[in-house]
Amino acid sequence: MKKSAEVFDKIVHERRSVRIYDNEAPFDETAVTRSLERAVLSPTSSNLQLWEFYRVKSESNKKKLAKICFNQNAAKTANELIVIVVRNDKWKERASYVFEHSTKDYPESWAKRKELMHNYYNRLIPILYSQGPFGVLGNIKKISANISGVFRPVPREVTETDMRISGHKSAALAAQTFMLSMKAEGYDTCPMEGFDSKRVLSFLKLPKGAEINMIIAVGTAAPKGIYGDRVRVPNHHTIFEL
Ligand SMILES: Cc1cc2nc3c(=O)[nH]c(=O)nc-3n(C[C@H](O)[C@H](O)[C@H](O)COP(=O)(O)O)c2cc1C
Repeated sequence: MKKSAEVFDKIVHERRSVRIYDNEAPFDETAVTRSLERAVLSPTSSNLQLWEFYRVKSESNKKKLAKICFNQNAAKTANELIVIVVRNDKWKERASYVFEHSTKDYPESWAKRKELMHNYYNRLIPILYSQGPFGVLGNIKKISANISGVFRPVPREVTETDMRISGHKSAALAAQTFMLSMKAEGYDTCPMEGFDSKRVLSFLKLPKGAEINMIIAVGTAAPKGIYGDRVRVPNHHTIFEL
């Protein structure tokens, strides 16, 4: 095994969901800055980066947010709480940014490639993300996919719900990069979905189109911060080869 794989293996094995943090332990908040800068390097569907990260740092804001997280110990004792938000409502501005910045330095000879990128970001993405009133376009796309799909493989994830799932997949990858990075920095984390999402949105003053993916508690594990040994279903129940 390569040295880098050994280091990575250690980080993966040492990351545990920590529910109680030691607030007396020194906490370098620049580790969070670096870890978020690494998190945004995670892969994301169509590179749209439909995510936002909110650092909740002040004691009063942490207290308010912990209450919205049902006063879970991890939320109550964390040094910081990071809220990961899915912003599918920002697809137009993100698509236009990514298209412009991906293609701006293309040489003349890449005209064909630029056209493909144009078709992708300015035609396909709008078709995928436009859902019409009450998601009616999504249902039409779904019916059309079901018909075409009888004859050939087609993309079937085309409704508003499918796009929401896609946004949450990408955001969850960023969450994992963040947590592994925090472990590499010497800190602990706990991902949480135990919260009142409507109240989190209003706490962050976000519109209805935004969705809360996860809230991550960060800090240093207190002596009894890990609740038990790691339990995993045996690999032969979950990992298969064809
Ligand atoms: C999407 C997601 C939501 C979770 N929500 C909570 C939560 O609200 N509170 C909590 O204490 N742990 C939460 N967890 C942590 C899991 O319980 C934990 O990852 C699991 O028990 C495995 O333990 P390990 O992370 O230490 O390996 C969540 C994990 C994930 C991935």
